[in-house]
Amino acid sequence: MSGAPAPLRPYAGQRVLLGVSGGIASYKSAWLARLLTLAGAEVDVVMTPAALEFVGAITFEALTGRPVHSQIFGAGNALDHVKLAKAARAIVVAPATADFCARAATGQANDLLSAILLAADCPVLLVPAMNDRMWAHAQTKENVAHLHKLGYRVLPPDEGMLAAGEGSGPGRMPEPETIFAYAGWLLEDHHALGGKRIVVTAGPTREPVDPVRFLSNHSSGKMGAAIAAAAWRRGAEVVLIAGPGNIVAPPGACVVRVETTEQMRDAVARAIDDADALIMAAAPADFRPATPASQKIKKGDGAPAPLELAPTPDILVSTIAARRPGAVVVGFALETTDLLANARAKLGRKELDLVVANDATEEGAGFGVDTNRVTLVGREGAEERLPLMDKREVADVILDRVVRLLDGR
Ligand code: CTP
Repeated sequence: MSGAPAPLRPYAGQRVLLGVSGGIASYKSAWLARLLTLAGAEVDVVMTPAALEFVGAITFEALTGRPVHSQIFGAGNALDHVKLAKAARAIVVAPATADFCARAATGQANDLLSAILLAADCPVLLVPAMNDRMWAHAQTKENVAHLHKLGYRVLPPDEGMLAAGEGSGPGRMPEPETIFAYAGWLLEDHHALGGKRIVVTAGPTREPVDPVRFLSNHSSGKMGAAIAAAAWRRGAEVVLIAGPGNIVAPPGACVVRVETTEQMRDAVARAIDDADALIMAAAPADFRPATPASQKIKKGDGAPAPLELAPTPDILVSTIAARRPGAVVVGFALETTDLLANARAKLGRKELDLVVANDATEEGAGFGVDTNRVTLVGREGAEERLPLMDKREVADVILDRVVRLLDGR
């Protein structure tokens, strides 16, 4: 197979109900509706009468390609609340205003959206967004505590710029991408990885030459971030140890940022003693300048002094003793020649259960791109060559293997 893979539609066929209540943050809900629709979900948007004062139903209809619901009364709407609630695999209310939180906490059903919550039998995520003083009010706090008790999941607001003229504080609705990630978490089956602790590494490391220069590589961290996101969505507790770079971490993961290979080794050693799995997707620098200069190296007049290099620790090898017995360990092998022989050698030398091998010279594979073409090499020698795939799909295949290995322990 060649060429770019088809766009991912991980939620194809899944009905997601997006509730929008009447707050200014509802302008961001349009983008959330778009993200869910692009991911393949069938999005039923339900707006409160107050939400219609902020954003027009037509915006959501155009983005989702489906009718928007807002009336509990009226000809043709009888039992809409029950039908919509039954059809939903997950419900996300974003924004959930202070008023909506109060109504949901007291089980009121005086509009379509609040009635749906009472009739629902699926996971519900409420995303409160309001002015910082309203969020800080004791009544709101009590309402939110009660929402937790009732089994609703509540994504707390971010701290940041509020609506025009209101300065900054806690109350701002998290970005649609973050809410979208939580919607993915709601839709996923948490059975296989629930209660498991998974450590994932991602990205390059940097070894200082002097205070302004470093040695590194082209790793973007996309593969590791995709694995961390997939593991979190499947219910695992995830520690993502990431080198420098713009990694988009899953919102529910504990992220540890490191700079050098030695720092990554220390972070891995600290995290793995109670981990069920370690997935080393990072590309740590293998060498560092032996004696980094404490001041910037100047051009001077003559030729630059040759850079003397020293090896960095091999993280997988040097943390073997720190692994929890029975932990599943997955390594990567990025090669330019003899892919499978090199991968098998790493499997033995680093005491791995699985190696994800890829050839850096193949188009669409390796660093920086969104896709990868990998071969999975198992401990018993079994090899599985996968087609060119989006890194998020590769992450799912790797996690399927990790689940199987954990089940066999
Ligand atoms: N790795 C590691 N510590 C290092 C370098 C790599 O733990 N200092 C891990 C990587 O995260 C990966 C695996 O080892 O999971 C293989 O990495 P790779 O760069 O392919 O191989 P190296 O071990 O660096 O060996 P070589 O450079 O000889 O290919």
